[in-house]
Amino acid sequence: MEKYALLGYRLRHTMSPFIHRRLFDLSGKSPDYRVYDCPADGLSVVIPELMKTNGFNITIPHKEAVIPYLDGTDEHASRYRAVNTVDVKTRVGYNTDVTGFLKSLGQAGCPLRGKVLLAGLGGAGRMMACEAVKAGAELTVALRPESKEKGIDTLASLGIKNAKVIALEKMRPEYDVLLNATPVGMYPKIFDCPFTDEVIAGSKHVFDAIYNPLRTVLSLKASKYGVNHISGMAMLVYQAAAAHEIWYGAKFRDADLSRIIDDCNAEISKDFPVKSNIVLTGFMGSGKSSLGKLIAGEYAFGLTDTDSLIESKYGKISDIFASLGEKAFREKESEIALAVSEYRNSVIAAGGGLPLSSLNVQALKRNGIIVYLDTPFELCYKRIRGDFARPLASDGDRDRLLALYSARKAVYENCADITLDGSLSLPEMLKSIKEKLKNYLS
Ligand code: S3P
Repeated sequence: MEKYALLGYRLRHTMSPFIHRRLFDLSGKSPDYRVYDCPADGLSVVIPELMKTNGFNITIPHKEAVIPYLDGTDEHASRYRAVNTVDVKTRVGYNTDVTGFLKSLGQAGCPLRGKVLLAGLGGAGRMMACEAVKAGAELTVALRPESKEKGIDTLASLGIKNAKVIALEKMRPEYDVLLNATPVGMYPKIFDCPFTDEVIAGSKHVFDAIYNPLRTVLSLKASKYGVNHISGMAMLVYQAAAAHEIWYGAKFRDADLSRIIDDCNAEISKDFPVKSNIVLTGFMGSGKSSLGKLIAGEYAFGLTDTDSLIESKYGKISDIFASLGEKAFREKESEIALAVSEYRNSVIAAGGGLPLSSLNVQALKRNGIIVYLDTPFELCYKRIRGDFARPLASDGDRDRLLALYSARKAVYENCADITLDGSLSLPEMLKSIKEKLKNYLS
């Protein structure tokens, strides 16, 4: 039986088995395909094993370390010092990332010309730097301040003389094409973005090598500002197809590859669900809607309010309470909770009583991080007393509302993934939630 494999380390979320299976299917083959998850010090043992296969791919962190085990490297792999495909017959290492990168740009109508800003100079970054310069672009590389010196050396070793190197925070909005070759924005750090809003808004094309999550904050911001966005999934599929060409001369039709890209995008959301919703909970008047607006703007997320959805479907909340009663309202609320739990990349401001149902919470937790806005009673009370749109607060009965507040506090606390101090100012709350989200998924 034919055998193919992927070599990498900590491959929690690889799409390679799915993609290669599909490509082998198109070629009428059904070989054994295995993933070798191996740390750097295990290479000497695992490479002889891999040399018994018909061919293998290599991913982070071994693209450079594998070179000494090979009999040669093709022109691209030699130039970028990064191998991602090995032809076992000849023991030659290739770089098909370049094929994937250029093809994905070409298919999306993104020329590698004009002012190009590249973030990152790892394996993929080195390849992008070389290709941008080769294509005649005016290249600037943005790196973390501590990596700047090493970056200058790397560019010199690649024979790139006239690229600028800047610190990431010194970016100005003057670039035509943005290339992200860093892991910034990749699961689990899904709320990070390598470029500022101004730089994204000022560009024409954004290429993000990341494909998990399917929509990175960078890609959402590109959409928000009407900038052409190219995802790493296209590059991943095209580089895999190029490996099959090397291994056994396969040729694929563009339409077939496009279908695989679409299926991969569907697959990644299904197989590696990322909690990309931010669900704001808290007592009436705790500030969920105002904070929600700010958070949605920060991450270019959608903004939804369960009360507004109920009202647009069933009419005013006060009328529902008055004519059908609270129980009927809660049923409608649960129906809406279930519907919004399917959303992605959205800030969901939940009605104050929504977390009373553990089924609502369970549904929203599937794709969402639950944030409890813990606002002092007096502040909530000031905002809600006598509000006729809120049937539970319209009589302004302070004692009853305080009892409700006290009884619900434990419910909010129990379901919260993150708690925010609701007495802070809005900018302070935004800062605080950004900090907490940074570390939440990792
Ligand atoms: C309710 C809160 C309201 C609304 C309804 C009931 C509650 O939403 O869903 O009036 O039981 O706490 P807000 O929290 O947005 O005011």
